[in-house]
Amino acid sequence: MNDDILRVLYSKEDIDAITARLADQIKADYAGKNPLVICILKGAIMFMTDLVRAVDDYMEIDFMDVSSYGNATESSGEVKILKDLDTSVSGRDLLIVEDIVDTGRTLFYLKKLFNTRNARSIKICALMDKPEGRVVDVHADYVGTTVPNEFVVGYGLDYAEKYRNLPYIGVLKPAVYQAEE
Ligand code: XMP
Ligand code: MG
Repeated sequence: MNDDILRVLYSKEDIDAITARLADQIKADYAGKNPLVICILKGAIMFMTDLVRAVDDYMEIDFMDVSSYGNATESSGEVKILKDLDTSVSGRDLLIVEDIVDTGRTLFYLKKLFNTRNARSIKICALMDKPEGRVVDVHADYVGTTVPNEFVVGYGLDYAEKYRNLPYIGVLKPAVYQAEE
């Protein structure tokens, strides 16, 4: 295990089981449709690629990069578009795939944005939910698992761009980010 990890919350096997359960629900709910999967970069990349393969049905994929975090472990409250979609969302059924919902600001902003762009439907699939962090009222339609109010990394999630490639999700040792504050 990586030395900066305090403890592992979810092994790759745990994540695969969570993903399979979500994929079954999504496959049933979107049967006969062609949803546009919107992967929120970079944190959701691993989850999205595993999820769409587990769904194994009609889906298109696009990417959006938004930022509310910088390199800190606390939300700045601002949401910025760093990379917009290539695809038009007008009239489309959207499935936003996110790694973790914390304050809810990112998804609140994105839902509002896609509504103004005339999406037909908007649903959210989040691997993790951190309900204690919530500042604005937003909920994911598909939630993999609920996590405590600790900073988690791995399986796409980073601290200062590190740890994204860990195959598991773990709690980062607070000393790692306290040292830099
Ligand atoms: P909001 O606060 O808008 O934030 O719901 C969602 C984004 O914040 C990041 N985030 C985390 N990233 N470990 C991370 O690596 C965490 O514990 C964590 N909590 C929030 C994440 O990028 C998410 O997309
Ligand atoms: Mg993110």
